[in-house]
Amino acid sequence: METVHVSLGDRSYDISVAKGLFASGKAVELLAPFVRGVKVLIVSDSNVFPLCGGTLRRALLDAGAADVAVSVFPAGETSKHLGVIGDVCRDAARAGLDRGSLIAGLGGGVTGDMAAFAASIYMRGIRCVQVPTSLLAMIDSGVGGKTGVDLPEGKNLVGTFYQPKAVLMDAAFLATLPVREMSNGFAELIKHAVLFDRGLFDELESAGDALFRDLDRLAALVARSCALKAAVVSRDEREQGERMLLNLGHTFGHAIEKVQDYRGLEHGEAVAVGTAAAAQLSVRLGLLDADSAQKIAALLRMFRLPVTVSGCAPDDLLAAMASDKKAVSGVPRIVLPLAIGRAEVRTDVPRSELRAVWETVCE
Ligand SMILES: NC(=O)c1ccc[n+]([C@@H]2O[C@H](COP(=O)([O-])OP(=O)(O)OC[C@H]3O[C@@H](n4cnc5c(N)ncnc54)[C@H](O)[C@@H]3O)[C@@H](O)[C@H]2O)c1
Ligand SMILES: [Zn+2]
Repeated sequence: METVHVSLGDRSYDISVAKGLFASGKAVELLAPFVRGVKVLIVSDSNVFPLCGGTLRRALLDAGAADVAVSVFPAGETSKHLGVIGDVCRDAARAGLDRGSLIAGLGGGVTGDMAAFAASIYMRGIRCVQVPTSLLAMIDSGVGGKTGVDLPEGKNLVGTFYQPKAVLMDAAFLATLPVREMSNGFAELIKHAVLFDRGLFDELESAGDALFRDLDRLAALVARSCALKAAVVSRDEREQGERMLLNLGHTFGHAIEKVQDYRGLEHGEAVAVGTAAAAQLSVRLGLLDADSAQKIAALLRMFRLPVTVSGCAPDDLLAAMASDKKAVSGVPRIVLPLAIGRAEVRTDVPRSELRAVWETVCE
């Protein structure tokens, strides 16, 4: 088992990563300090609970939880809204959770964001632990304490920063994750490698396709990726500076998702196209060599991710980019790789260059 410590003063916590964390009984040990003698509400979705719910419930009871109740919502991003948060809080109240109780989020990023958001507001905040079951949740949403839900007006517009007490990542859960969802997670893993860690990039390159099945090997890379994100979050929890780097590929990716009205590429796929686009832009601006950009695109493709998009007009994508949540007065912030393993945030990229890159990305 590998442990990644997220260092945030009195809100610090550990992320434990292994394949077989639950089967080995290790999870019981990790959960006990937080759940012994308290009521726990498992928050999960309708796909994940039937697959993994029994395992978590047993571990919680073995760890000494006084009672384990369950709140399950229909799987998918469309459930990520305030109405379902209300339902979760009502389930908590009905199960008799009090200020000493705990919420356990079991699922992908949607579940994690909602379970932690509910925990952050129920009775003005009760403790939570996270058990991510999608690769994306292990690589990205399970680290960093951003919680929230969508509004009809936009994604993730309501939320809090709220750190869990512990995060348990068992790669064994990934055995049932659909391949397309695995790829979504790999997009964010590749993003971390491009941003911070050339060695991780090389390992992904040499392992390739095998990582879809070799969950022991994947667990080690998940831990490595968590450590990278945790270090950034420890230094810049509220995204005032360095944490913005984690948006590599996202300014482009969000524009694609928006122009496709969230019915086209999945998030990780859009981020993959965006990461390849950012690398190309870097090459155009003389910040990155063409060979590195090619290696980045090739790695994305190796993990069954797209690097181009069809059916979108460059001008629409450009307009969507200017209205990005993180744009400042219509000028998008773009994260640009300077090398594999190093990047910076720029706000001075000429519109003409952005347009030229969209031209090459659109099929
Ligand atoms: N808080 C953050 O910092 C942060 C970061 C990135 C993404 N997010 C959020 O995360 C969400 C996306 O996460 P996601 O891709 O995990 O979505 P998700 O939670 O919808 O999971 C994707 C699909 O996989 C299924 N699934 C999950 N684990 C499974 C398993 N082990 N076996 C079989 N099926 C399984 C889910 O039921 C769902 O159908 C978005 O809402 C995004 O905004 C948050
Ligand atoms: Zn993302």
